[in-house]
Amino acid sequence: MTDRYAVIGNPIDHSKSPLIHGLFAQATGQDLHYTALLGETTPGGFARAANAFRAAGGRGLNVTVPFKTDAFAYATELSPDAQLAGAVNALKFEGDRVLGQNFDGIGLVRDVERNLGLAIAGQRVLVLGAGGATRGALLPLARAGASLIVVANRTAEKAKILAQTFVPHAGGTTVEGCGLGALEDRVFDIVFNATSASLSAELPVISPSVFAPGALAYDLVYGKGLTPFLRLARQAGCAQVVDGVGMLAEQAAEAFEWWRGVRPDTRDVIARLTVPLT
Ligand code: ATR
Repeated sequence: MTDRYAVIGNPIDHSKSPLIHGLFAQATGQDLHYTALLGETTPGGFARAANAFRAAGGRGLNVTVPFKTDAFAYATELSPDAQLAGAVNALKFEGDRVLGQNFDGIGLVRDVERNLGLAIAGQRVLVLGAGGATRGALLPLARAGASLIVVANRTAEKAKILAQTFVPHAGGTTVEGCGLGALEDRVFDIVFNATSASLSAELPVISPSVFAPGALAYDLVYGKGLTPFLRLARQAGCAQVVDGVGMLAEQAAEAFEWWRGVRPDTRDVIARLTVPLT
């Protein structure tokens, strides 16, 4: 029987996951069926949909907004990344076991290191925002060996609390949290915009002086063209400004490999989904 997988979210129409996993399956010769599920946002709605999907032979789910914390609660076993992020973006069903993973941060790191060919090790990293996207990114960035990670948020207290949570897990990486206004006089080699500001074409208020000469500016959103953040970075002279298309493809590839034991090549998917930054 063909194995079934799906992405669940609400809304879900915009999701590129069925296209991405369809291309991965074709390229690797894997026999699987991948669909999109519209989840109910009523209490217990996620668990009901996941139970029904498993009962119908579902082997795994990708999980998107607003169900990542429901999936976290639904999992019976969590990876360290999911545990620390407090969110799950991929589930694997093995009998009664429900394995939960969070591949968002791993996908981000792989995109920077492999696709963009830039080292994170030894770099000074600034992460803007202190929501779910940042929570998912911190542990993989620390594991990749960033020398410093500063989490800066509009609401400073949230960034400080989040940074403190991560300090015991950061290894040799220094982790700090602060408000956006506290970045004057500080300079970074890589700046990630993990706020939701770009979704509404807003700009997190930061000084252009945060970008070191030759810095990478990376907006985690995908498909929004040149966001106000990327425009600021370009004007500030950043060597590379990129959006989250590579992260999207890489987190999908991680899930595919986790489910199927085969690593798909992401180049074709990235080429198809790339939106010009203009
Ligand atoms: P997600 O899970 O997508 O990260 P979230 O948990 O709602 O979403 O977090 C959104 C993040 O974007 C927050 O850090 C938020 O800042 P606050 O904590 O101060 O609300 C940040 N954010 C959203 N719009 C922003 C804007 N216009 N400027 C700066 N930061 C913004």
